[in-house]
Amino acid sequence: MLKEKTIVVGVTGGIAAYKSAQLVSDLVKEGCDVHTVMTRNALNFINPITFETLTGHKCLTDTFDRNFQFNVEHVALSQRADAFLVAPATADLIGKASNGIADDMLSTMLLAANCPLIIAPAMNTYMYENSIVQENLQKLRRHGFIIVEPAVGRLACKDVGKGKLPDIPVLIESLRAVFEEKQDLSGIRLLVSAGPTIEAIDPVRYITNHSSGKMGYAIAEAAAKRGAEVCLVSGQVALDAPCGVERISIRSAEDMFNAISERLPDADILIMAAAVADYTPVVYADQKIKKKDGEMTIELKRTKDILKYAGENKKEGQIICGFSMETENLIENSRKKLLSKNCDIIAANSISESGAGFKTDTNRITLISKDRIRELSLMSKLEAADILLDEIASMRKK
Ligand SMILES: Cc1cc2nc3c(=O)[nH]c(=O)nc-3n(C[C@H](O)[C@H](O)[C@H](O)COP(=O)(O)O)c2cc1C
Repeated sequence: MLKEKTIVVGVTGGIAAYKSAQLVSDLVKEGCDVHTVMTRNALNFINPITFETLTGHKCLTDTFDRNFQFNVEHVALSQRADAFLVAPATADLIGKASNGIADDMLSTMLLAANCPLIIAPAMNTYMYENSIVQENLQKLRRHGFIIVEPAVGRLACKDVGKGKLPDIPVLIESLRAVFEEKQDLSGIRLLVSAGPTIEAIDPVRYITNHSSGKMGYAIAEAAAKRGAEVCLVSGQVALDAPCGVERISIRSAEDMFNAISERLPDADILIMAAAVADYTPVVYADQKIKKKDGEMTIELKRTKDILKYAGENKKEGQIICGFSMETENLIENSRKKLLSKNCDIIAANSISESGAGFKTDTNRITLISKDRIRELSLMSKLEAADILLDEIASMRKK
């Protein structure tokens, strides 16, 4: 899929710049025609000769370089490229790109480009989480840039947190995804929830469930590959955010409600694949709790019904999909849910079936809409996600 594609790799002045050499080398091995462009500050971290040797092309660093064949290179190469990946992208480059600043070769080429643009931010966690950087990334997303979320780990500055350049295969995958043929969800904004919520009882204990988040993450991944702009509201799970997906991490049902209700008006599709803990303590145990003879009694109340709220506030043309997990009467109970929550489709799974439900990589789901029931066989969660998205895409066309 990447063979013979012209890929421009932009390198900025971050400590991860040394990893770009491996990225470029691997892309050349994939059969890509790779061109590189570096910021002046990146020259402090890695020598352009490395890239020139790996690619067989001059590494561009200077907009006003007169020592090469005469064409307006920043325009010519940007127009010729099949994809443009900046890895690592500094906070500085992100700030410039999001504000249309073109004061060096790389930022100028980004503005002149006419191809999918991918940005892989890498920086110190505090820099990455700075609301200015986050706003800039959000702006880039709105303008169609694909943002590859940084990985979590030990950073060069010795802090541990989010900000590492993702592994090379993840970066290459982000390129591969833009060449996926099926881009039928391009321009669609998908809001998807995944994973469990956690309801604290006291500083140590909590109520939760067994959700691994795999189904919701598979949906986010499949949709992003098909061109959707995906926002994933995720409980605490041990999964990396899929390429090009914006992830909002939450803990409680209340957090999830806030994150979803805030973004719902802008979403074309909502898929609630999270397993919200249905109950939360009425009062946090530190402040009360009836403890008697070593036994603790906790009074519970229901958490907010996010799907119901979404159904009640559904806007024209919006599609809402809920998941149901039933122990019995799968179809009947799911139908009831479809109607009572004003959903367009329910993806129902049976908790008792082996290979389906929580934690597994496979699932067997039944898609239930007002006029149709479609039983899927046991398949990978990614395949099931694709079929669910097909179904939703066809509902949008009606
Ligand atoms: C040793 C060192 C490491 C740095 N690492 C990063 C980094 O990982 N990410 C980042 O955004 N900035 C980093 N910086 C700061 C950038 O180099 C600085 O913001 C610079 O202006 C970026 O220029 P550029 O975006 O034109 O490449 C680092 C600076 C130094 C001195």
